[in-house]
Amino acid sequence: MNIAFWKPEYSVSVKSIDADHQKLFDLLNQLFEAMSKGQGKNVLTEIIGELERYTIYHFHREETYFRVTNYPQKDAHIKEHQYFVQKISEMRKQYEKDSSAVSAELLGFLSNWLKEHILVTDKAYQEHFKKHVVV
Ligand SMILES: [Fe+2]
Repeated sequence: MNIAFWKPEYSVSVKSIDADHQKLFDLLNQLFEAMSKGQGKNVLTEIIGELERYTIYHFHREETYFRVTNYPQKDAHIKEHQYFVQKISEMRKQYEKDSSAVSAELLGFLSNWLKEHILVTDKAYQEHFKKHVVV
């Protein structure tokens, strides 16, 4: 069962970033599936933790590219990243307190946020990265 489907239009023409985005989609799908199947707290805690870690890792990769290429829109972009990391971290903390706190609705929100972020905010750096040969 999937909540986030990868489509070619999500590509930002940078291999490492496309691969990261696919991995994040995959983790959201894993989480959604584990929830739908009523998997136990250990399994869900593991996936939520991995989603949080990988999101931070991935945003750090993008932000490193912003710095080395001196990307002019980096500040607003980094603010969006901080917002999303905060949402995921809140989700993890709520889940630790109350294992019914993660809902399909919340996962839908996270997956929609990510898709929108890729299509609008990430796409905005595509030409800049191309000029600076980020691959
Ligand atoms: Fe981003």
